[in-house]
Amino acid sequence: MRTFYCAANWKLNKSPNETNSFVNDFLPYVEKYDKPKLKTIIFPPAVNWVAFSEASKGSSLFWGPQNCYFETSGAFTGENSAQIAKELGAQFLLIGHSERRHVFGEKNEDLAHKVALSCQLNLIPMLCVGEQLQERDAGQTIHVIHEQLVKGLAELDQSKEFAIAYEPVWAIGTGKVASTEQVAEVHSEIRKGLSSILNNEVAEKTSILYGGSVKPDNAAELASLKDVDGFLVGGASLKVDSFAELLKIASANCH
Ligand code: PGA
Repeated sequence: MRTFYCAANWKLNKSPNETNSFVNDFLPYVEKYDKPKLKTIIFPPAVNWVAFSEASKGSSLFWGPQNCYFETSGAFTGENSAQIAKELGAQFLLIGHSERRHVFGEKNEDLAHKVALSCQLNLIPMLCVGEQLQERDAGQTIHVIHEQLVKGLAELDQSKEFAIAYEPVWAIGTGKVASTEQVAEVHSEIRKGLSSILNNEVAEKTSILYGGSVKPDNAAELASLKDVDGFLVGGASLKVDSFAELLKIASANCH
């Protein structure tokens, strides 16, 4: 049985006060829909780590950075430290989100160092992969994703837990969700890829989340797919009502 994730990527949204009130309003749902194999995670912006950690202390709501530098300290002006997040109680680290790759130019090689650091710090890395529209149109989807996996996982400590999030770039924040056939195909190819890059046992136990315009009205169908082990949600995670609805669906479909 793999862990099923209901994960929120808040991107650059919410103030510390808004964080505090969201967490207070949301925690009852985390308790209500709790299941042994379900994990609810929020990735808040770095400026809200402290507020988030205080508001969620003692609960089963997990959190982690949206990105961190691959060194923990030093002369790296403007960067954030995974070690500091760990000290504040983070359990996860989101790595290689499409906005990091395509807005900030992060390369697979940088992401591999971040995966290594995450493993060293006992933060569970969640590596994002996904093709751009022109790559899909050119029939390169599986090739692009395989390369992102091979390079991004090059420094993984295989004894540690990790997760993959498949987010087609053209489906993020656009309202265009990938079809169930597209999601099923790519998730199955990712699992095959993990089996060839790592091994079958690791591939079978690793959770693969889908992200890209997940909403309460499409989540149940996505969750029913065999190789979909959760959601990574942007827009619909910013309101308590819609994220709670997604958590309810995740809990009901936790397979
Ligand atoms: P979206 O974002 O749900 O708003 O499409 C998903 C993501 O970027 O992780």
